[in-house]
Amino acid sequence: MGPSLARVLAQDFLPLKSRCVKGLAEWILSSPCRRNIVVLTGAGASTSAGIPDFRSPGTGLYDNLQKYDLPTPQSIFSLDYFRKAPEAFYELARDLWPGLQGYKPTLTHRFISLLDKKGRLLRCFTQNIDGLERLAGLPSERLVAAHGSFDTATCIRTGRRVPAEELRQAVLVGKEGPQGWQALREKYGGLVKPDIVFFGEDLPAAFFTHRRQDFSKCQLLVVIGTSLSVYPFASLPHEAPGSCLKVLINREDVLDFSFDVSLLGDCDEHVQELVSHLGWQEEMSELGGAD
Ligand code: OAD
Repeated sequence: MGPSLARVLAQDFLPLKSRCVKGLAEWILSSPCRRNIVVLTGAGASTSAGIPDFRSPGTGLYDNLQKYDLPTPQSIFSLDYFRKAPEAFYELARDLWPGLQGYKPTLTHRFISLLDKKGRLLRCFTQNIDGLERLAGLPSERLVAAHGSFDTATCIRTGRRVPAEELRQAVLVGKEGPQGWQALREKYGGLVKPDIVFFGEDLPAAFFTHRRQDFSKCQLLVVIGTSLSVYPFASLPHEAPGSCLKVLINREDVLDFSFDVSLLGDCDEHVQELVSHLGWQEEMSELGGAD
């Protein structure tokens, strides 16, 4: 058995935050954690890469969509609105499409990748569609892209698969012209959408399969950079067994779930401290992630 939760939380002579991070490091290094760590991520894991999250007041995406004149900010990811007015999503897709803006993985992404290389990570479930986990070297079999990805695309009227590269080119060109998205719509008999999950759409089958398979084995759950406000993803922490240590690393507390350890603040900063307690600085540097 690894150190008990009481010991994790009650190491004297250290400030509360360091005490928690040190205890967490000790816990990770202990044997029960072998391939038993599940990480859940949200947009906060990518903000230091320059990608805004959704709901932070002022800076979040949903506070900055005025130019699209949407009925509600969430309409940008609604199938009904996309059918009526696809321009808005297609324009935004130029900013969101992985690789187009040159966003780089953050320290947090590299840490998740390192957890895998160290043989500790069972799975990372991400809500993010920026592709930065894989760019940080996390193999696709360790990742559940719960809200889909830009890797594949589908015509929403016929259900026909469309090469994602064809859609990417059309998004770059815009509405008009033989390579634009209007021409693509005519070619495939309906609007073409990347397979990212819009509100009201089903999550990929892998989400449900891994939710069923992984959580019974999970001994450490680390939730990073999410407000946990979108279901069914937000239900995942409830799947973890009672014996599992549940840790939140986020700028703000998440009210709907009671974590054993809450490390509030910037996730990269907490991760950096964790890496130093783990003694993994060299490997992180090799991944290009820590000084
Ligand atoms: P949110 O914007 O709802 O939450 C991001 C959380 O990360 C907030 O609690 C922030 O305070 C926190 N945060 C931001 N930057 C941080 C940092 N550097 N360090 C630590 N914490 C930080 O984003 P998500 O929870 O990912 O779904 O949103 C979930 C879903 O809502 C998205 O996948 C998207 C959206 O609608 C769909 O579009 C289907």
